[in-house]
Amino acid sequence: MTDLYNDLNQLKAHLERQRELKNPGVQIEKRNPEKLLAAVSLELGDCQRCNLHTTRTHLVFGKGNPDADLMFVGEAPGADEDIQGEPFVGRAGQLLGKIIAAMGKTRDQVYIANILKCRPPENRNPNPDEIAICSPFLMQQIEAIQPKVICALGTFAAQTMLKTDTTIGRLRGRPHPFNETCALIPTYHPAYLLRSPSKKKEVWEDMQVIMKLLSWPLPAKA
Ligand code: URA
Repeated sequence: MTDLYNDLNQLKAHLERQRELKNPGVQIEKRNPEKLLAAVSLELGDCQRCNLHTTRTHLVFGKGNPDADLMFVGEAPGADEDIQGEPFVGRAGQLLGKIIAAMGKTRDQVYIANILKCRPPENRNPNPDEIAICSPFLMQQIEAIQPKVICALGTFAAQTMLKTDTTIGRLRGRPHPFNETCALIPTYHPAYLLRSPSKKKEVWEDMQVIMKLLSWPLPAKA
């Protein structure tokens, strides 16, 4: 499996075969990711399953194309996201928008979500019971969307989704198996890029790996 994940063309073909097995060409009823996502949102409802509901303004479900090939997953809503009820709308979110634009796409063409749906007070790290309660809903969203690639933004999302404590510096730069039909590519969090702009080069390398896996055209070199 590791060798496969080192060879992007082989991995691309492997994931395509797995998707065909999961969703065979002849289907009685076509999958409807929008309906499936709406069902997840309904089940989540006005969630009060952990204490974060007492301090949130809005629950931030996630936003974008329910049929997206690429899904970005961050840590948790910050102050701007909590106020607006949308993921990645603050300064880090604006940078994420620029990264997506550099990939030749708009935010509406991908799907953006977080490990946690409610803002932890003072932006503290999510704690294990919050992750245990909230992350099953993210997994249901992933199952509804069935993206081909998930890009985990930052240490927290990457380590949580890959169930590892390896540093982001060592995880990034290559695809990791997430499930049988989807690869996960970790990269630095846009908020970290705002503090360390020299890391933008590595993030762009990671985006190019994603674009190759998705057969998106790479922009011509300037
Ligand atoms: N940081 C995150 O991880 N997620 C957001 O939605 C905003 C900032």
